[in-house]
Amino acid sequence: MLQTYQLGDLKLNNRMVMAPMTRSRSDNPGNVATALTAEYYSQRASAGLIITEGTYVSKEAIGFVNVPGIYSEEQTAGWKLVTDAVHAKGGKIFAQLWHVGRLSHPALQDGKLPLAPSALNPFDRAYTKEGFADTVVPREMSEEDILRTIEDFKAAAANAVKAGFDGVEIHGANGYLFHQFFNVYSNRRTDQYGGNIENRARILFQTLDALKEVIDLNRVGVRLNPSLHGAQGMMIDPETIPVHEYITEKLNDYGLAYLHLTEPFTPVDNVPYAVKNVAKHFRPLYKGTIIINKGFTRETGNEVIENGDADLVAYGVPYIANPDLVERFARNAPLNVPDKDTFYATGPKGYVDYPTLQELNLN
Ligand SMILES: Cc1cc2nc3c(=O)[nH]c(=O)nc-3n(C[C@H](O)[C@H](O)[C@H](O)COP(=O)(O)O)c2cc1C
Repeated sequence: MLQTYQLGDLKLNNRMVMAPMTRSRSDNPGNVATALTAEYYSQRASAGLIITEGTYVSKEAIGFVNVPGIYSEEQTAGWKLVTDAVHAKGGKIFAQLWHVGRLSHPALQDGKLPLAPSALNPFDRAYTKEGFADTVVPREMSEEDILRTIEDFKAAAANAVKAGFDGVEIHGANGYLFHQFFNVYSNRRTDQYGGNIENRARILFQTLDALKEVIDLNRVGVRLNPSLHGAQGMMIDPETIPVHEYITEKLNDYGLAYLHLTEPFTPVDNVPYAVKNVAKHFRPLYKGTIIINKGFTRETGNEVIENGDADLVAYGVPYIANPDLVERFARNAPLNVPDKDTFYATGPKGYVDYPTLQELNLN
């Protein structure tokens, strides 16, 4: 994992990726990434690649309080602080572009209904200013809504380029908007965005086609979570794996930076239609770089690269608590323990105060 890696025209210092993680520190009126955000990411700049927390492409994409966006000039300027700080330390950073679809809530949408492929409640919870709130039946997107959303992704990608990001990742996973289009149980449309596999995947490819007008596709990644089941309002249906296989194979024609896959978030041994071993299943279908994530350690990360099922490994929670995760893996040093209570809290506590080995005098 400590070997360098050529990601398109970007040379990564190692094969360790910081996974995208919402940290809810943009508790300011414009939902702007701040100097504190810059400090957090720059502390982790020794990762081969950082993927930022999900960042909203528009006001109607929002699904969480205190999370940064990338649609306004002010937000773009905030992200510039972050990319400058990471680049000053020799790191590389992609912005994760996000639309939550039906996982939002009217309390986050000025009272309006969230948008989704179909008017189907995910029966989950959204985190609003007043705390957790039950999700509602969303409004089915019109074709105009879909085309506007694609334009929002394009504008957000252009802002990411302006903000100095090395690339962007489309969040196509975890039960959010794109994933809602892919799955039969969340997409009952009868137009060109529903019905068959090709139609349910259409919005992703139309978004990529739009993005290439503002960013080279070798600087764009896509994140998928094919075996997500019983979380984030998603249930695997008989066509979930086939639609993800179709997407993966079609992405071969797009020359992307990478495909970012996650192993199942919950046990799927007894779940019909699920794939238990995501990297192994999808590796033969994809010719480019694969990032794999979920539950990896130093040992299993090295193993998955050695056996060829993935090229890069993304670490989530270990990166919250260990800004110097690369050094710790290099030395096989112990890891700090993450504090769950501050994952989504505001302020510096549990965000920028995890000590490095050097600060612990363990080097
Ligand atoms: C606090 C927290 C916030 C997260 N936010 C995001 C997010 O914004 N976008 C995303 O794609 N995944 C998000 N995830 C999922 C992580 O990227 C990753 O898939 C998950 O933590 C599993 O990897 P790990 O076992 O290495 O932690 C989040 C996870 C955590 C713990």
